[in-house]
Amino acid sequence: MAILVTGGTGFIGSHTVVELINAGYETVILDNLSNSNPKSLERVEEITGKKPVFYKADIRDEEALREIFKKESIDSVIHFAGLKAVGESVEKPWMYYENNISGTLTLIKVMNEFNVKKMVFSSSATVYGAPAFVPITEECPVGKIENPYGRTKGMLEQILTDIAAADPEWTVILLRYFNPIGAHPSGKMGENPNGIPNNLMPYITQVAIGKREELGVFGNDYDTHDGTGVRDYIHVVDLGIGHVKAIARINDFKGVKIYNLGTGTGYSVLDIVKNFEKANNIKIPYSIKARRPGDIAECYASSQKAFDELGWKAERGIEEMCRDAWNWQKNNPNGYDD
Ligand code: NAD
Ligand code: UFG
Repeated sequence: MAILVTGGTGFIGSHTVVELINAGYETVILDNLSNSNPKSLERVEEITGKKPVFYKADIRDEEALREIFKKESIDSVIHFAGLKAVGESVEKPWMYYENNISGTLTLIKVMNEFNVKKMVFSSSATVYGAPAFVPITEECPVGKIENPYGRTKGMLEQILTDIAAADPEWTVILLRYFNPIGAHPSGKMGENPNGIPNNLMPYITQVAIGKREELGVFGNDYDTHDGTGVRDYIHVVDLGIGHVKAIARINDFKGVKIYNLGTGTGYSVLDIVKNFEKANNIKIPYSIKARRPGDIAECYASSQKAFDELGWKAERGIEEMCRDAWNWQKNNPNGYDD
């Protein structure tokens, strides 16, 4: 029996596939390659010695999904596939609702047809909005979500919860990721953003390699220790392992469980710059810019529940995150196109 990994050639998906294979699971990857490169599959093979089964398919394509479920013996699904650019989601909300929500509904429909009723879903700390308290536990109320991308996560959490309530055979694990960064320590896999990076770490690595002149720090007047925004950065390998731990428990219960996946430590933008400089001995020029609309001051997790119930804890610290992110960028200046 295999785990179907939708979005498995993407940043988090590819790292999770490596950890699933390392843990002895069989994987089947489905991706439409809209935001990823099939070369990641070769890298998975180089790292694990196993060639993953891959289908180029879209989660909105019911027939294509049926063919995969017919051919493969699928036990459960880890569902990463989705669009994730916050700014683009504000400009093209319909595209996000269509891809993320319709796509997931189609996937659920086909899963039901084949009696595969176990899913681990990629949610996000974004559902907490401006959090009611930090560190954020799973009891923290879901807040006012700031953009259509984030709303697709909130809506899909609700849809999956309703489905599990209506059909007691369903098991859903909602994983709320904090800020995944870093790359595989081999330097063979990492984040491969198109165009100008929206997120902090890929921007920093592109400054380090000389593709961008300087980092713009979005605001230094937040109520944080140095005025810049604080986030809970988590190494993507730790995040991948979190999925393996979730899959290991998926047969143990029915219904829905929610877990935060973070480290429990918040770092400011300037902390990240300093840690990157120290870990890699490279200067990152920066200047202070206006706040970015929709940003919050501070967001970091309590992952105690994931530790207590899944036996998972992030092991990799900020230095490793900075080192591995740079190692990937330096070895692959143009991502998988090198
Ligand atoms: P990514 O873009 O690297 O991976 C997503 C993958 O899904 C891509 O390979 C893309 O080609 C594929 N995809 C998109 N739409 C598809 C469709 N209709 N059919 C088939 N494949 C499709 O992003 P990622 O950072 O690896 O994120 C994975 C998941 O985790 C996403 O759902 C994302 O929203 C969620 N998430 C990411 C972060 C983050 O900061 N990276 C934080 C919280 C949650
Ligand atoms: N930042 C800068 N300059 C940049 C980019 C970011 O100063 O060029 C700052 C932001 O203002 C913020 C911090 O760096 O304070 C982190 O920003 P990111 O864009 O890297 O991450 P966010 O916390 O804004 O959001 C990310 C994902 C969301 C996801 C969220 C929680 O982009 O999709 O983490 O998981 F929902």
